[in-house]
Amino acid sequence: MVKAIIAPSMLSSDFANLASEAERMLNCGADWLHMDIMLLTGRSDVQVKFWFHFVPNLTLGAPIIESLRKHTKAYLDCHLMVTNPLDYVEPLGKAGASGFTFHVEASRDNWQELVQKIKSKGMKPGVSLKPGTPIEEVYPLLDGENSVELVLVMTVEPGFGGQKFMPEMMDKVRTLRKKYPSLDIEVDGGLGPSTIEAATSAGANCIVAGSSVFGAPDPAQVITLLRVSVEE
Ligand code: DX5
Ligand code: ZN
Repeated sequence: MVKAIIAPSMLSSDFANLASEAERMLNCGADWLHMDIMLLTGRSDVQVKFWFHFVPNLTLGAPIIESLRKHTKAYLDCHLMVTNPLDYVEPLGKAGASGFTFHVEASRDNWQELVQKIKSKGMKPGVSLKPGTPIEEVYPLLDGENSVELVLVMTVEPGFGGQKFMPEMMDKVRTLRKKYPSLDIEVDGGLGPSTIEAATSAGANCIVAGSSVFGAPDPAQVITLLRVSVEE
């Protein structure tokens, strides 16, 4: 059985108190801290939905990961919502990121180089896909020589926390789990007590949760509930 990993999304935390928010989540039982990296950078030659942006939002970058790393040994699960992820491997590796998950939509022409570089910097390579992207697009990244070790199935359009979970994405998770029994399959967007069952019964084992954890009166209770659902 694949291991349950619960990763609160720090996008819902109080950014002005990031270190103490991280510590609070770890004390509540978090396994990983999910760091949403959205930068207003881009390449005009990459086909993206939003002009020059991968997502219509701006969050944090390598300097903040570096600062946070000074305060915690936790696994920092970085989710790159940028059009040119290759540019961030070196800075994030140096900053102390643990996982580097890029989007397949942003790396169609260079994913092999990207995976190689991520591994050479000692990070765990992962690939993510937007709701509109078919699961078949990630197969080459799982079967080849430079394969990724995690697939992040987006269950909302990337960009913001607090959106509604898209249950129709569970077909992707089911298909993936059947084909790859021991793969880390992560889900991100709208996960919480009311949607977790759909995700875990489809086969997801890494659960990202932002607003449902940070917005709860007792985050530890929500984290436990998410974990139990994976382990059941
Ligand atoms: C959205 C981000 C998510 C977000 C999830 O683009 O990738 O990680 O923080 O937040 P919730 O759990 O509130 O949907
Ligand atoms: Zn994310």
